[in-house]
Amino acid sequence: MRGPLVTPFHAGEIARRGTARLRAGLPFIPMHFGQPSAGAPAAAIAAAHRVLDRDPLGYEELVELRERIAAHYADTHGVQIELERILLTAGASAALVAAYAALFRPGDRVAVMRPGYPAYRNTLCAMRLEPVEVACGADMGFRPTPAMIAALQPVPQGIVIASPANPTGAMLDGAQLGALLATCRDRGIRVISDEIYHGISFGKRAVSALELDPGAIVINSYSKLYRMPGWRLGWMVAPLELAEQLHIYLINMFLTPATLAQHAALAAMDEPGDLAHWVRIYERNRARLIEGLAAMGITRIVPPDGAFYLYADVSHLTGDSMQFCLRAVDEIGVGLAPGIDFDPEAGRHFVRFSFAVTPDEIERALELLAGWL
Ligand SMILES: Cc1ncc(COP(=O)(O)O)c(C=O)c1O
Repeated sequence: MRGPLVTPFHAGEIARRGTARLRAGLPFIPMHFGQPSAGAPAAAIAAAHRVLDRDPLGYEELVELRERIAAHYADTHGVQIELERILLTAGASAALVAAYAALFRPGDRVAVMRPGYPAYRNTLCAMRLEPVEVACGADMGFRPTPAMIAALQPVPQGIVIASPANPTGAMLDGAQLGALLATCRDRGIRVISDEIYHGISFGKRAVSALELDPGAIVINSYSKLYRMPGWRLGWMVAPLELAEQLHIYLINMFLTPATLAQHAALAAMDEPGDLAHWVRIYERNRARLIEGLAAMGITRIVPPDGAFYLYADVSHLTGDSMQFCLRAVDEIGVGLAPGIDFDPEAGRHFVRFSFAVTPDEIERALELLAGWL
């Protein structure tokens, strides 16, 4: 067998040990993966029950859901999107695979930020594309700049950007995003904008690339704001001339996304009060976590603008973030993600805390960490 093209998610080992603890009756606080501990909105679950009782659940792409997504862009971002430009996918993950497959050819170079979501890089490698990692560290507030993109030589064929970003929660404002998109346009770099954390931001609204550049390819998902990671549903928006091609790829690779999830998602989108309630909880968790970690001497943090992550520099505690996270799960049952997942180099000095848990879990984790450190 030939060697693997991709590296594992190291947080997967933390998950495995956490699950083993739970099976052994030991406590475990899951702050390692980016998944809301609260499930889908009640209205989404009720809708799924109703559909399950009456619908044969064949392969289907609900027009009503695409209409609802179009209405969301009109209401939230002030942009009109034709239905033909909206494609339903099995999560942002399937959207990413289809976008890479349709836009690039083997050997093409695609820029990704470091630190960044590991699957951007790994999926590029799996598809014989070349990731070009752009260092975008704490000194830059974890925000890419037009100058960084202008300096890339040779010019990459594409770039993946995310605002808010994983693992840092850093967000670009309209002017910053606009300048970045303009540089990409000038250099002929195709932009994939991962907007999966939209709707989860603290104080500022996240600007969609679609407000600034109709040529951008946007991917999004029901996994984060809508709290439906296990339902495996997301969407993408592409320029008309690409959307048909992307649809052909999606149908060939995945057929349609889960029909039951589409019905549930339609109901979830009409629950703004419920969604906002959880965003307020994340906001309180964020403040409490920043305060509690500071009391333990963990102060080198760029406060996240959005998403539900805090990416902390723990270089005064460890030079091996994986070892640190293994010990945290084994010794006190707190699940954290090692920075090496997001940045194989500087990530040795960072850990990511997900605060998409309950306020009680945040308090307990802080207590355990304080005693342990
Ligand atoms: C930045 C980012 N993009 C994409 C994904 C994939 O999400 P999904 O396939 O569940 O929609 C994740 C998951 O954590 C993520 O953090």
